[in-house]
Amino acid sequence: SAARILVAGGAGYIGSHTAKLLAKRGFEPVVYDNLSTGNRSAVRWGPFVHGDILDTAHFARTIGRHKPLAVIHFAASAYVGESVEDPAKYYRNNVSGTQSLLDACLAGGVDKIIFSSSCATYGVPALLPIREETPQRPINPYGRTKLIAEHMLHDYAAAGGLRYVALRYFNACGADPEGELGEWHDPETHLVPRALLAAAGGIPCLDIFGDDYETEDGTCVRDYIHVTDLARAHIMALEYLVGGGRSLALNLGTGRGSSIREVLDTVNRLTGRAVPIRINPRRAGDPPILYADPGLARKTLGFQPEYSDLDTIVRTAAPFFGLEARP
Ligand code: UFG
Repeated sequence: SAARILVAGGAGYIGSHTAKLLAKRGFEPVVYDNLSTGNRSAVRWGPFVHGDILDTAHFARTIGRHKPLAVIHFAASAYVGESVEDPAKYYRNNVSGTQSLLDACLAGGVDKIIFSSSCATYGVPALLPIREETPQRPINPYGRTKLIAEHMLHDYAAAGGLRYVALRYFNACGADPEGELGEWHDPETHLVPRALLAAAGGIPCLDIFGDDYETEDGTCVRDYIHVTDLARAHIMALEYLVGGGRSLALNLGTGRGSSIREVLDTVNRLTGRAVPIRINPRRAGDPPILYADPGLARKTLGFQPEYSDLDTIVRTAAPFFGLEARP
């Protein structure tokens, strides 16, 4: 029978795309999710267990029942602004939640973990592109909780009993090219879906948070990576651990930075609409420029993005907003 992979947070945006790809590759994804932000209808490729990672005993029982080959851990809170207002929630879910999950893994004999980390752990980097060795100095509680979880993984692994890959995602975006899964957070704060929402008339305009940055066009620059590429990187990380690979952290980005205006130009060109914009003050905690050096993930996993050009990102996401994108 198929090897089972326990996917904590598998009802969320990146988790559900990964669960779909796991099933395509012959694994059985068992999704464990408390549905606080995830969506039950996004769990369609294997069993669903309704549970919280803070419930160590329930997570351990789920391991005992399904005997997974590995755990992929997506279950976390992920709003930078909210993490400033309610740090307790972030330390509870992202730090205590990760410890609870790891303790259940150790108790249940699961020794391979793939962890969702973030470029938010780097803060405002002194040097670009961002390498894995770039000092991690997060500038908000969200980034700090992800960094603490990375340290926890490192220390648990060093003591023996488990190996891990921490994947530091840059800006996840786009949607399932087969149209089965999209991006919808509630509230939706991310640039690509908000731009498409504005293009579709669902909101009056797209607020640009600052056009006076030290960048070519004054708007922030990010490394946008398609969710289907991220999903594939998780499968490659899984195969790496199954093959005996040692614990490590990897950037998942394209190595290319795009400005907010470039993203909006792409939406305008492909949808044939003109996204109405409004220039706002800078958003607190936004670094001006972030993009990855993707070399280590290429070298260790053979990972290279395939869907992460802005055109493909916008083309795959547009249908979820009722928009037709020109081919
Ligand atoms: N932006 C706008 N208008 C919007 C939304 C975003 O101008 O309506 C700008 C932001 O200011 C930023 C860029 O578009 O310059 C991208 O913003 P996102 O909110 O889409 O993503 P972030 O770069 O803020 O991503 C960060 C971290 C992720 C983390 C995420 C949490 O890099 O790891 O915040 O939501 F998951």
